[in-house]
Amino acid sequence: MIESVPSVIEPASSSSVEDFSDHVNPQWVRLLDLLQMNTQYVRCEGVELTTQHGETILDFLSGYCVHNAGHNHPWILDQLQEELQRRGPVMLQSHVPNLAGVLGKRLCTLAGGKLNKAFFGCSGSEGVESAIKFVRAATGRAGLLYAQGAFHGLTCGALSMMGDEFWRGKFGPMLDGTVEIPFNDLHALESQLRTRRFAGLFLEPIQAEGGIRLPEPHYLRDAQTLCERYGTLLVLDEVQTGMYRAGRFLAAHHYGVEPDIVVLAKSLSGGIIPCSAVLMSDRVYESVFDSLKRSIVHTSTFSDNAMSMRAGLATLDVLEREALGSRALMLGQKLRDRLRNRLAGYEMVREIRGQGMLSGIEFQAPKQVWLRVAFEAFRAIHKSMFGQVVVMRLFHDHGILTQICGNNFMVLKIAPPLVVSESQLETFIDAAAEVVHTMHHSRTFWSEALNLGRRAINI
Ligand SMILES: Cc1ncc(COP(=O)(O)O)c(C=O)c1O
Repeated sequence: MIESVPSVIEPASSSSVEDFSDHVNPQWVRLLDLLQMNTQYVRCEGVELTTQHGETILDFLSGYCVHNAGHNHPWILDQLQEELQRRGPVMLQSHVPNLAGVLGKRLCTLAGGKLNKAFFGCSGSEGVESAIKFVRAATGRAGLLYAQGAFHGLTCGALSMMGDEFWRGKFGPMLDGTVEIPFNDLHALESQLRTRRFAGLFLEPIQAEGGIRLPEPHYLRDAQTLCERYGTLLVLDEVQTGMYRAGRFLAAHHYGVEPDIVVLAKSLSGGIIPCSAVLMSDRVYESVFDSLKRSIVHTSTFSDNAMSMRAGLATLDVLEREALGSRALMLGQKLRDRLRNRLAGYEMVREIRGQGMLSGIEFQAPKQVWLRVAFEAFRAIHKSMFGQVVVMRLFHDHGILTQICGNNFMVLKIAPPLVVSESQLETFIDAAAEVVHTMHHSRTFWSEALNLGRRAINI
C-alpha cells in the first residue's frame, strides 16, 4: 500500500525533524539539540526570523553571508514569481539563455578591470573548481597556491586549497601541486612563484572563515604584480566578501587590485536559489572555449538557468536601489567603533576588526588565574567550545543568531543582512557587551559552559 503524503509539509512539524534525523543528517540534529538551538522558523523577513513559538530572532549570520539583501526580499520574490508565471525556457540546454547574458554583462561591468566573461554554476565550490580548470588551461601549468586559513569550499579541488586537517581528514588524497603560503606574506609568495610552477594564486581578499583577516593595504596589489611577473593568474574568491558585503561590489575594489578571475556565489542570487559566477578575462575564457567543438567543454546542467539568473538580476536591483553597499560601509564602521568602545578593557577581547558589514570579535585566553583555569578546562574539551558557548548565550539570552569562524574558533563573526537597522545593531552591541561582561565576572557562565562541554563529550 502506498502511504499518502501530505501535499503541504509543515516545515515546523516534529515529524519532519525526525525524518531529517532519520534520512539526512542525524549528527547535525544532535549538535543543534546539544546547543539548544534546534529551533523551527516559520517566517524570515529582512533581518528577523520568527520561530514557531512566535519569538523573534535577529539574524547576524545571514546563512553564511547568503542574505545580503535580507531574507525573502519582496522584489526578489516578485521577480521570481513573475519568471515562473512566464512558463519560459528555464532549462532548455538548446538555446541562448538570454538572461545569463544580461546578468553576465551587469556583473562584469560592476566588477570592472579585465573581467569580461562569466561562467555560471550553482555553488561557491563549483565556482572554485571551475577557476582551477580555467587557470590550468590558461597557463599550461598545474600548481595552485593558496593562503593559510583559507576557506574555498568542500569539493575535492577546493578542499585541496584548504590546509586545515579538520576539513581534509579522511578525504584524501588531495590534488597534487597545491602549496600553502602564509596570508599577507609577499616573500613567501615570491619564493613560490619564482619556480614558475603555479597556474593560479587563490586568495580571499578578506579571509572570512579564517577569522575576518584583512589584507595589509598593499598586499593584494603587490601580489598581483608578482603574479604578473611570474606568469601566475590571480584568482580572488569573493564568495563571501563580494556583492557589497564588504561595502564595495567586490572587496577587491577597496585595494585597487585587478584579478584575472573572481568567484562570486552566496548572496549573488538573493539567498533563495543557488547560483555562482566565475568572472574572468577574455584571455582566460579563450584558453578554455577556444573553438566551436569546445564550446561546451566546461559546463554544468543548471548553469544559466532562468530562475537563478532572474534571482541574480533582482538581487542586484535591490543592492543598488537601496544603496546597501554604502550603507554597509557606514553602519559597519559605526558598529565596530561602538563595539570597540563598549568592549574596551575586557582582557578576553583581543581585537574588533572588519570591513563593511563583515566584522569579527577576536577573543583571547585570559590572564587572571580563576578565568584562565576555567578557560583552559574548557578548551581542553574542544577548541571550538568557547566560541560555541558565546554563540549559544547570544542566541538564548538575547535572541541573536551568530556563528564562530569556521577556521578560527576564537573569532565571533558578525554578518547581518545589509538591510540591518541601526537599532538592530544597537541590540547586538548591548547583547555582546552583556555576554562579554558575564564571561569576565560570572562563575556561573563557566560552570554552565563546562556542563555543556561534558555533555558534548558524553554523547
Ligand atoms: C570564501 C568561500 N569560498 C567558497 C565557499 C564555498 O561555497 P559553497 O559552500 O557555496 O560551495 C565558501 C563557503 O563558505 C566561502 O566562504
